[in-house]
Amino acid sequence: MKQQTYSHRGGAMAGTFLLLLPFLFPSLFNPLGRASPSILSEWSAPKPRHSRLLKSALQRRTSSEEQADLWRPLAKQGWKPCAKSDTTLNLPEKSRGYIQVFLDGGLNQQRMGICDAVAVAKILNATLVIPHLEVNPVWQDSSTFMDIFDVDHFINILQDDILIVKEVPVEFYWSTREYYATGIRATRVKTAPVHASANWYTENVLPVLQSYGIAAIAPFSHRLAFDDMSKDIQRLRCKVNFQALAFVPHIRALGNSLINRLRYPAQGSEVSTNYLEELDNTNKKKGAGKFVVLHLRFDKDMAAHSACEFGGGKAERLALAKYRQVIWQGRVLNSQFTDEELRSQGRCPLTPEEIGLLLAALGFDNSTRLYLASHKVYGGEARILTLRDLFPLMEDKKSLTSSEERASIKGKASLLAAVDYYVSMHSDIFISASPGNMHNAVVAHRTYENRKTIRPSMALLGQLFLNKTLTWPEFQEAIREKHKNRQGQIRLRKTGQSLYTYPAPDCMCNA
Ligand SMILES: *[C@@H]1O[C@H](CO)[C@@H](O)[C@H](O)[C@H]1NC(C)=O
Ligand SMILES: *[C@@H]1O[C@H](CO)[C@@H](O)[C@H](O)[C@H]1NC(C)=O
Ligand SMILES: *[C@@H]1O[C@H](CO)[C@@H](O)[C@H](O)[C@H]1NC(C)=O
Repeated sequence: MKQQTYSHRGGAMAGTFLLLLPFLFPSLFNPLGRASPSILSEWSAPKPRHSRLLKSALQRRTSSEEQADLWRPLAKQGWKPCAKSDTTLNLPEKSRGYIQVFLDGGLNQQRMGICDAVAVAKILNATLVIPHLEVNPVWQDSSTFMDIFDVDHFINILQDDILIVKEVPVEFYWSTREYYATGIRATRVKTAPVHASANWYTENVLPVLQSYGIAAIAPFSHRLAFDDMSKDIQRLRCKVNFQALAFVPHIRALGNSLINRLRYPAQGSEVSTNYLEELDNTNKKKGAGKFVVLHLRFDKDMAAHSACEFGGGKAERLALAKYRQVIWQGRVLNSQFTDEELRSQGRCPLTPEEIGLLLAALGFDNSTRLYLASHKVYGGEARILTLRDLFPLMEDKKSLTSSEERASIKGKASLLAAVDYYVSMHSDIFISASPGNMHNAVVAHRTYENRKTIRPSMALLGQLFLNKTLTWPEFQEAIREKHKNRQGQIRLRKTGQSLYTYPAPDCMCNA
C-alpha cells in the first residue's frame, strides 16, 4: 500500500497528495488484511465529550428572527459567473493530434483533471479523447467518464472551443491504457511536472504529437499551473467545471428525488404543484422546506492520521495507534504533539458531536432538515447518535430512497459522491466539516453561484472545546461572531491557489 500524505490546508496543491481525499470506504481499505474488527474490540461506545454544552444545546431555543437570518440567502456581492470567454477562441483549422489522459483520484480530483485536459488540448490545438478514469485503489469504482458525466452535453457545450472524440480513431486503437501499463512507450508523456506551464506542454508534448499524431499524458493530476495562464485558458477551465460537466440523467433524477423529499417531507417526490405551492406559502415564514447539507468526513484514516483523541477511550486510542503504525509506519507528524496542542491549532477533525454543537450554536434548531453527505463514519451509528439527538430530522441517501432507487449507484463510490455533490449544490446551506477535494469543489461551485456555505473555523472550535468552563451563551456568542464572515463571502484567489477552490476572479466578473 502506497503511503498516504494528508494536508489539512484546503487550498494547497501538490503531487504528494493525489490521494488526499479521504477514504470514503474504509472497509474496502483494510491494511490489516482481515475482516474489519468488530465494534466492541475497537472502542467502548464513544461518549459525548462535551456534555455540559450538549445539555444546553439540547434545550436551545432560537427566535424566528434568528431563523430568518440564518436561512436568508447570501446577499449579492458584486460578482457574477462568467465562464464564457470575452474573445472568441476559434477552433484550430487542423488538429495537431490526439491527447489522452488517465486520471487518478476520486470523483472531485478527476473533475479537476478533466478541466485541465480540455485546457491542455486547447493550448496544443489538439483533439481531446474523452478522459480515462483510473480505478482508484481505495474506492474500487470502475465507472467511466460516460457513466458519471453526460458526455453529449460535454461535447456540445465545448464544441466551439475544442475538438473532442469519445474514443481514439481506428488507426490509434493500439493506444490504450493497457498498452501503456506494460512498457516504455514513445507516445506516453510521464514527466509533466506538478503545475506545469503552458510552454512546458508546447515544448514537450507538441513534438510527440507531431511525430506520432497522439500523446498520452499520465500522471496528469495537478499538472497544469494556475498562475501565468492566459485569461482565455482560465475561462475555458471554468467553463468546463461549471457548465460542461453535468452528471448523467439518472444521477440528476435521483438527486432531484432526494431534494424533493428533503423539501417536502413525508410526501414522497410526486406531489402536485398546487400542494407544493400551498406548502411553500404556509412554510415560508418559518424557513421550512429548506435544508442544510452537512458534508461529514470522519473516517478511520483521518482519525488515525490526525493523532487526536475522539472519546472512544483506551481501546480506540490503541486501535488508531496500531493503524498509524501499519499504514504510515508511525511517520505521522502529528503524533509528536499532544491532543491539546493539536486541538488548539485546529488540527483535529471535528467529531459529529462537535459539528452538532457548532450547528446548534449557529442557530439551527431541532426542526432543521439536515442531509448528511457522508459515507462510513468511524464509530458508526454510535458516534453519530449525539448529532442525531440534536437534529432528529437528519437524513441521508439511504434513509430517503428505496433500495431499488439506489440499485444503479450501489457500491459505486464515484456515483455515490456524484449524488452527494448534486444534493450539496442544491441545498440552501452547505457546511463541510473538514477540508478535502469534495469540500473544495463544492465550496467553489457554490461561490460561483453565490450560495450560502458555512466554513467552520477549526482553530476557534478547537480552542473553545478545550475550555471546560465556557458556558453555552459564551460558546454561542464566540461561534456566531467568528462565523459572520465565513458564510460564502468571496475570497479572491491568490497566487499559488487553485482555480477550482477559488473561482474569483478567474471565473467571475464584476456584476
Ligand atoms: C493554435 O492555434 C492558434 C490559432 O489558430 C495559434 O495562434 C497557436 O499558435 C496554435 N498553437 C499551437 C501549439 O499550434
Ligand atoms: C424540538 O424541541 C422541542 C422543545 O424541546 C420539542 O417540544 C419538540 O418535540 C422537538 N422537536 C423534534 C422534532 O424533536
Ligand atoms: C474559558 O472561557 C472563559 C469565558 O470566555 C474565560 O474567562 C476563561 O479564561 C477561559 N479559560 C481558558 C483556560 O481559556
